[in-house]
Amino acid sequence: MKDASSHTRPVNLILLGPPGAGKGTQARMLEQRFGLVQLSTGDLLRGAVAAGTAAGKAAKAVMEAGELVSDEIVLAVLKDRLDAPDVAAGTILDGFPRTAAQAEALDALLAERGQKIDAVISLEVDDEAMVARVAGRFTCAACGEGYHDDFKPPSVAGVCDKCGGTEMIRRADDNAETVRTRLGAYHAQTAPLISYYASRKVLTRVPAMGAIDDIARDLGAIIGKVTAGT
Ligand code: AP5
Repeated sequence: MKDASSHTRPVNLILLGPPGAGKGTQARMLEQRFGLVQLSTGDLLRGAVAAGTAAGKAAKAVMEAGELVSDEIVLAVLKDRLDAPDVAAGTILDGFPRTAAQAEALDALLAERGQKIDAVISLEVDDEAMVARVAGRFTCAACGEGYHDDFKPPSVAGVCDKCGGTEMIRRADDNAETVRTRLGAYHAQTAPLISYYASRKVLTRVPAMGAIDDIARDLGAIIGKVTAGT
């Protein structure tokens, strides 16, 4: 199903949730349908680490420890990406904002562009299940499609369903100990944004412990209403 033509101005959505909540999985399933671009600060930072930029060098050890990278570095990386022409129709923000300072900076960055946050979706999950989700995750090295050993294996073992790539990679921070640190960082620094966006009347809470396709259907219904009103 494709609803890409249903919005006439840029639409910006935030997916909030702890590590393993399914932010990346859902953003990738929904971006094409709604003509939006998934914008993951985790992916941008991993790209900076791989490219060996100054930002990447500063972020590497922090990410491997499961702590949050400084607001200054994250905002610099995000700002560059927001200026790219392909995001002009709008974004699904995945893993950003993660602190109150980032949320305020995002408002300012969007206002400069005549845009705003249209909806924030909080994926509600159980922490303990997130450890198993993250520890079983792997991605296609060629196209970035995400998989899971038990919950979302490729149709043919070792071969990407999307692009046919055969090299699969696992993230350095996807081990049980680091996931617990990342969960702690989420609850201390990011979860307060749920009430911040609730008070602005843009928040929807979505139970996200069910099957991937069922959650995509629920999110699609919410995003469809948002884009239809623009
Ligand atoms: P980031 O890359 O953003 O990681 P994260 O927030 O920890 O989120 P994940 O990617 O682990 O989880 P996800 O919700 O996307 O889950 P997924 O869909 O893959 O950040 C990494 C690091 O970068 C941070 O720790 C920090 O250091 C730094 N960073 C990034 N942004 C930052 C910022 N703004 N400020 C400061 N620092 C920042 O799903 C997980 C697995 O579960 C997959 O295998 C999937 O197939 C499976 N799965 C998904 N949904 C389901 C389901 N419903 N049922 C069963 N399995 C499922």
